[in-house]
Amino acid sequence: MRTIFDYQKSSGTGGILPKLDVPKCGTTDLLPRELIRRSEPRIPNLSEPEVVRHYTALSKLNYGVDDGFYPLGSCTMKYNPKVNEDVAGLPGFSSVHPATDPELAQGSLSVVYEMSRLLAGIAGMADVTLQPAAGAHGEVTGMFLIKRYFEARGETQRTRILLPDSAHGTNPASAATAGFSVTEIRSGADGLVDLNALSGELDDTVAGMMLTVPNTLGIFEENIVKITAMVHAAGGLCYFDGANLNAFLGHARPGDMGADVFHFNLHKTMSSPHGGGGPGSGPVAVSEVLVPFLPVPRVKLDGEHYVLDWEEPQSIGSMQSFYGNFGVFLKAYAYILTLGDEGLHEAGENAVLNANYLQERLKKTYKLPYDRLCKHEFVLTGKGVAEGISTLDIAKRLIDYGFHPPTIYFPLIVHEALMIEPTETESKETLDRFTEALEKIASEAREDPQLLHDAPHTAPTRRLDQTRAARYPIMTYPFGE
Ligand SMILES: Cc1ncc(COP(=O)(O)O)c(C=O)c1O
Repeated sequence: MRTIFDYQKSSGTGGILPKLDVPKCGTTDLLPRELIRRSEPRIPNLSEPEVVRHYTALSKLNYGVDDGFYPLGSCTMKYNPKVNEDVAGLPGFSSVHPATDPELAQGSLSVVYEMSRLLAGIAGMADVTLQPAAGAHGEVTGMFLIKRYFEARGETQRTRILLPDSAHGTNPASAATAGFSVTEIRSGADGLVDLNALSGELDDTVAGMMLTVPNTLGIFEENIVKITAMVHAAGGLCYFDGANLNAFLGHARPGDMGADVFHFNLHKTMSSPHGGGGPGSGPVAVSEVLVPFLPVPRVKLDGEHYVLDWEEPQSIGSMQSFYGNFGVFLKAYAYILTLGDEGLHEAGENAVLNANYLQERLKKTYKLPYDRLCKHEFVLTGKGVAEGISTLDIAKRLIDYGFHPPTIYFPLIVHEALMIEPTETESKETLDRFTEALEKIASEAREDPQLLHDAPHTAPTRRLDQTRAARYPIMTYPFGE
């Protein structure tokens, strides 16, 4: 595939500019001399059709959620209604500058305020900050809140965060970034936190426990109320990673289960595709004891006016410039209002129904190490399908059948993991086609393993040398200088 710079020799023109009606640059002293260009810019000189064709061809090489099924476990890509993009693009919202005087931005501030109230209601918690720009950023924010809470209480010996081995990969990194040390708690054979192992670690050096809810096996901690009570009794706080909220959206509230901090991944649950580098939004909900520590500025309602409050003496400070990724939570706001209580409840129900339907069908062909009712996702293993076949082979062959592969080799507690999350937006027909493709691949693995080793056969690029690509990436275009 050529880059746009490979077309440089064309002599076309991309547009017709109006006649110059200001002094020509370089003929006046308006610009400092060092800023004046001395040579032609090295950009391709292309006609409009050439540019359009180049980018159209590039877009066809891509695979997105608008092309087909994208069952990435943990990093969900679900279809999101386009109308919410229109809402986020309304000029009154998209052109307001974040530094606008609050008196002139009352509409936008009302969205910030109302959205945090809606999310607090969904989480069953006291208050919410919308500042974090992603899930992991929400985790770090939550960890800072917990840290500041214990500093305020003079309990600075609480330096440990407990984490199950089934936690999401970003959890330990977030705890460490906030200056905590991490103690791993093993899971039992049922994929749930081992309560004896937990009890053995609880003492006055524990600041809290971080639980991915449901965990990365797609299993809900059925002892969750017992776990939060144990951590609270030891003086610690409970962090729930709520990026998998689809699994219990509108059915249960983390606040009622004992969470002190809960982060949302709005870009997974509420109308914004996850992946591709964002932008995302990871609002953090907190229980009453953590409200004084929330980031500033806080958007508050003073009579009938929305105001910015910077005067929170115990706040951890700002986690983002301004208030967060406004466009992303605007889409989520439209999504919540469109669906209402009933629609959100149904979205959660369908996410779980779709995952269980796929799990039941696929476990006949692929091994399911933790065989129990799942929530929003489940984890198979590619091991044992056929001699010499790896999960990577299976994932790459799926591309030939027109599907984006699921997440592979995560979570680490399942060998050769294939982590599948269908989401609530897929039809039974799509799930059936996906199942049939995986069944066919399992037969191919036994009959013609080389077909899988060489896959993908139909993608624009074949299998890459991933180590080389990671170690020696080419990040700049060689201009031949
Ligand atoms: C359970 C869980 N926690 C945390 C994250 C991190 O979120 P982000 O990628 O937005 O930082 C993810 C990502 O999808 C996740 O699935």
